Amino acid sequence: MSYHSLVILTGAGISAESGVPTFRADDGLWMGHRIEDVATPEAFARNPALVHDFYNQRRRQLPTVHPNLAHHALAELAARWEGDFLLVTQNVDDLHDRAHALTPPGPGFELIHMHGELLKAHCTRTGEVCDWPGDLAVQEPSPHHPQGRLRPHIVWFGEMPLRMERIEAALAECDLFVSIGTSGAVYPAAGFVELANMAGARTVEINVEPSLGRRLFDEGLYGPATQQVPAFVDSLLATASG
Ligand code: NAD
Ligand code: APR
Repeated sequence: MSYHSLVILTGAGISAESGVPTFRADDGLWMGHRIEDVATPEAFARNPALVHDFYNQRRRQLPTVHPNLAHHALAELAARWEGDFLLVTQNVDDLHDRAHALTPPGPGFELIHMHGELLKAHCTRTGEVCDWPGDLAVQEPSPHHPQGRLRPHIVWFGEMPLRMERIEAALAECDLFVSIGTSGAVYPAAGFVELANMAGARTVEINVEPSLGRRLFDEGLYGPATQQVPAFVDSLLATASG
């Protein structure tokens, strides 16, 4: 069967083999930090220096990590896919962006960072987004508003993800939904598979182990993303060209 409208969701697991720590593994980010201390709006209001430090550490790591075979396989798919392809990532790293910059996508492709991006900041008053301006002073004045401050452009717990209307519209009409490297612990991303099922899509989970939402998927492909994703992309492109 060939597919026309593809939605792929990725989580921290797709970046794991690039050396980016995930969240809920034994050495995950949430084992070394309390979410309420570094990933909520209240945390930022209470102690902006601690929150900035948490994200500065993760941002400083970015130049030392690189897209892996899974990121590049998705970029190859985006370059050759003839229909609509929405790639939604929960990740705030720029590994997908770099892979697609090396292999430019086709016209039907869009990448959405639903939890924001480490390399961006936004104004606390206007919400306007800008590139991360280097090592921020704790209360960096915003260029967008005289009383504004710049904060990490990251969606924190309790905040709404970005571009949800666009994501939900794509899920409502997709015929193939693939989830890669996510534990299924956080909503609304963990509920995307149910929207895809309601649209009648084929739903596939690719992960190193079954996620919390395994029973909601038609199929599960288990193993490291750098092995499973290239193989899945090859099979998809073979079907499409068949
Ligand atoms: P949630 O209910 O979606 O998350 C559930 C899981 O997140 C919990 O099981 C727990 O593991 C963790 N969690 C959430 N808040 C926590 C807290 N205060 N302390 C400890 N663990 C916590 O989370 P939510 O608060 O309802 O937030 C949902 C919104 O936040 C969604 O829009 C989601 O996209 C966004 N979000 C952003 C991030 C991020 O780091 N950028 C992380 C998770 C959720
Ligand atoms: N290949 C494939 N999957 C992997 C690999 C790998 N090499 N390594 C780990 N995984 C899987 C894990 O089994 C786990 O199911 O990736 C998943 C990572 O889960 P989490 O650490 O919970 O990360 P994620 O699902 O992206 O978290 C969702 O929660 O805290 C927030 O903002 C955070 O966006 C994140 C959201």
